Amino acid sequence: MGQYTAVNLPFEQDNTGSMMVPPSIKLTDVSLKYNDFTALNNVSFEVKAGQTMALLGHNGAGKSSLIKVILGLISPTSGNAEVMGQSAYANHQQNRVDIGYLPEDVSFYDKLSGREVLSYFGALKGVSQSRIESLLEEFGLGYAQHRQLKTYSKGMKQRLGVAQAILSEPKILLLDEPTVGLDPLASQFLYGKINQLKQAGCAVVISTHELSLVESHLDIALIMAKGKRQALGSCSELSKASALKVTISFNELDERVKTNAYLQSFYQDGLLQFESARKADIVKHLVSQCQIFDFEIKEPRLEDIYHDLMGQSLRSPVEQP
Ligand SMILES: Nc1ncnc2c1ncn2[C@@H]1O[C@H](COP(=O)(O)OP(=O)(O)OP(=O)(O)O)[C@@H](O)[C@H]1O
Ligand SMILES: [Mg+2]
Repeated sequence: MGQYTAVNLPFEQDNTGSMMVPPSIKLTDVSLKYNDFTALNNVSFEVKAGQTMALLGHNGAGKSSLIKVILGLISPTSGNAEVMGQSAYANHQQNRVDIGYLPEDVSFYDKLSGREVLSYFGALKGVSQSRIESLLEEFGLGYAQHRQLKTYSKGMKQRLGVAQAILSEPKILLLDEPTVGLDPLASQFLYGKINQLKQAGCAVVISTHELSLVESHLDIALIMAKGKRQALGSCSELSKASALKVTISFNELDERVKTNAYLQSFYQDGLLQFESARKADIVKHLVSQCQIFDFEIKEPRLEDIYHDLMGQSLRSPVEQP
């Protein structure tokens, strides 16, 4: 009779007995101290395969520290950080091929050429030379691939850093301020690439201060303040959690909007203004009870939601939580 050894599989069973795939990233009550300074304070969240999470927060909020915990570069002081169902810290060597990482300060040895840098990382991750060549071309660096990095502009180095992060078509992609120094077309190209990886099931975390760029690409946003989770959710969930209003403006106003029993309380100065949760009801009343041909709905932008949710903590100096 064979001997069976019990192993801890990263997959759990649901109540029908079938295997459930664990979230790509799962943090549970993670705290991190640098000496006696608390950089992360009880942070929990999950990112599933094919999801993009924007990581937002003021300077020093703990975004880069959080990314390093997911990467397994630092171990949390308490709590659990798991990637693909396994401890991030204990498995960081094995996870190297599956995780793409762009650090916030990209710095490669500047006597190497762009081609040599990608070949070096490609060899570590088992990536073919043809993939390296096509990425260099796609990122607009083909013409400069044999030049030493000391002759590259800031944006060229950043493009190379991003190409390095997605080299092995990773299952998890961690980008720490990827669009800093990128021109608008390069940023657009990067988000296009991220969307392709998402379609293939990659979980993406993007730390950024460029809210208007990330807004249309995120599934969820985690807003950090002084090491703590300030808010987490989709744009519409965050919008509902904020005090901000949706507005509807009209090209030609039907006077019934002002007198309708339901709509009139939301009407002021030519606009309807209401909490996000009422949107479906308001539109239903407008369409069924008024003659409206042309109207425009304005949702709060991520930038406004961010400022609203950060509130006082954004304005006060960063202190020990
Ligand atoms: N190695 C370290 N030793 C001590 N303190 C550190 C260390 N790294 C970061 N910190 C502190 O931890 C806090 C969080 O830093 P972190 O780099 O994670 O912030 P961030 O949100 O990425 O900020 P930014 O937007 O400026 O990049 C800061 O107060 C920082 O000074
Ligand atoms: Mg940072």
